[in-house]
Amino acid sequence: MKRALGVCYYPEHWPESVWAEDAALMADAGLSWVRICEFAWSRLEPKPNSFDFDWLDRAIETLGRRGLKVVLCTPTATPPRWMLTRHPDMLAVDAGRRERGFGSRRHYCFSHRGYREECARITRALAERYGGNPHVAAWQTDNEYGCHDTVLSYSAAAKAGFVAWLRARYGTVDRLNKAWGNVFWSMEYESFDDIGLPNLTVTEPNPAHLLDFRRYSSDQVVAFNKVQVEIIRTLSPDRPIIHNYLGRTAEFDHYRVGADLDFAAWDSYPLGFLAEGTGRDSAWKRRFLRQGDPDFQAFHHDLYRAVGKGRWWVMEQQPGPVNWAPYNPAPLDGMLRLWAWEAFAHGAEAVSFFRWRQAPFAQEQMHTGLLRPDSVAAQGLADVQAVARELALAPEVDTGPVPVALVFDYESDWAWRTQPQGRDFDYFSLVFESYQILRRFGLSVEILSPDGDDLSTYALVVVPGLMHWRAPFVEALRSYKGIALIGPRTGSKTEHFSIPPTLPPNIPDLLDMKVTHVETLPSDAPVPLKNGGTFKGWREFVEVGSRAHIVETTADGHAALVAQGALRYVAGRPDRDAATRLLRAICAKAGLETLDLPDGLRVRDAGRFRFVFNYEAEPADPACFGLTGERVLGDFPLPPAGLAILKRQLP
Ligand code: GAL
Repeated sequence: MKRALGVCYYPEHWPESVWAEDAALMADAGLSWVRICEFAWSRLEPKPNSFDFDWLDRAIETLGRRGLKVVLCTPTATPPRWMLTRHPDMLAVDAGRRERGFGSRRHYCFSHRGYREECARITRALAERYGGNPHVAAWQTDNEYGCHDTVLSYSAAAKAGFVAWLRARYGTVDRLNKAWGNVFWSMEYESFDDIGLPNLTVTEPNPAHLLDFRRYSSDQVVAFNKVQVEIIRTLSPDRPIIHNYLGRTAEFDHYRVGADLDFAAWDSYPLGFLAEGTGRDSAWKRRFLRQGDPDFQAFHHDLYRAVGKGRWWVMEQQPGPVNWAPYNPAPLDGMLRLWAWEAFAHGAEAVSFFRWRQAPFAQEQMHTGLLRPDSVAAQGLADVQAVARELALAPEVDTGPVPVALVFDYESDWAWRTQPQGRDFDYFSLVFESYQILRRFGLSVEILSPDGDDLSTYALVVVPGLMHWRAPFVEALRSYKGIALIGPRTGSKTEHFSIPPTLPPNIPDLLDMKVTHVETLPSDAPVPLKNGGTFKGWREFVEVGSRAHIVETTADGHAALVAQGALRYVAGRPDRDAATRLLRAICAKAGLETLDLPDGLRVRDAGRFRFVFNYEAEPADPACFGLTGERVLGDFPLPPAGLAILKRQLP
């Protein structure tokens, strides 16, 4: 497996006189990839149809001369101001019907066909000119689809597109009325043209209406991306096409965008995400303030490995303090090194840092880079150089078989946002909590899409909160030989957002049980389980048939864990203690050995090697937690932000 480092660079931000020196410094620092151009449209096409590629020719040549490989981006995340004159109705519209304005970025509506055509035009111009350029070795489409809440748009273009999409999906309006249950509240439509967007309704819209609108909106991202991919593929064959996804964003189906691309990349900002994305309490956030959540990066590495069909990068790695979180601390010295190595341990082929030099102007002037605005090395550069040196010496690893699969599904996120039923029900954290606990056991986990049809390599499959089953997955479960932990809320809807006739979990031949009703509770009123821990926030009441049996109950005598063959169903949302206990017992049953790692010590197995990471701001001795083996890199105890690579004893 090849591993490389890269950086994001903006030649258009700097005088041409510094490009050569920048390129030399990048190459000396051990970088081999440079991503450019994703926001440069106003310089590539200053006026409609009047292109200026000369500067880009020279920039690419300057980088290439130093042996740097270029990831060339389509600049479609930042249409220039003249684009609005050409397409005044291209702006996205928010749910309150306010048009989103020019003056930052991502100011477009995915449904707008005219803008999509303009994007095809600039993509074609770039791909025609650079498709065969020897220094352009990969492409990136746009930048972070969905960032700044830009997937859902309530524009006229979206309304027209949605109606056409519904017509194609349902054929007749009667079918749609039936599928959505529109007899309720007299919501029946006579014609597709009468259907509006699900915003500004007096009270909540029909959840089926909302879910279809989210599906439609996700499809627009897929289609928008595909237009660019098809052009680049034709004009620049053999160069991989990538998109850089944003962590903790589920507004569109990343698997479906990923299906059209060669591989995936994501943008990793551990300290920014700690503040905004992990749902942890303030003590936790203080403890990992300069390191980031010990599982958040790993979760996304595994998610994007799945989205990238096994191949992925980190396209933007946090270099130091950022500018966009509520507070923006500096990472511990060594943290960039740890983050980069953690990505490699999960199979990343490249880690690219954002950005080369801090910009002294505009929105991100407080966002650090690898160089300060005066071109002196900033805090992070030494870490990057250290990783470059280590990569040259460290053994090649392959990620090897992973024993545990955890299903993550974008539609389920949309469904439970639409109908949380209890204020705290959040799909991402439901899945992420299972991930954290499994990692605490020292297990390596693979993320699986709900369309997965081969479970044969896993000892354990975990399926929390999956809204509705896909047939290939159920087929795979039928012959599955390991253990599958299902629920809560799994299989609780049809694809049209109704309660299934056989009641959840809706696989009666595999699990002879029915969820008859659910209750949700505030966090200070948990439901104790008989063997310890509680159900928190969400609890289900079940009827168990003769082929299944109850393994564990709540203290008030209701089924909490049900088993039938290889399947286990958990009828509530276990708190961390209960989830740890249940999962540990299930792992034992599945033949998986579990460790008991402290909060900040994490492990990733990769074939013959085991990576160990210390996310604590204190030294930690992994040997005290059963982590031993010949060391290829690193010394015990690990310093803060330290890491080690051990040789594993494989049978
Ligand atoms: C990313 C984005 C970059 C830059 C960065 C700042 O989300 O792709 O362009 O804005 O954040 O942290």
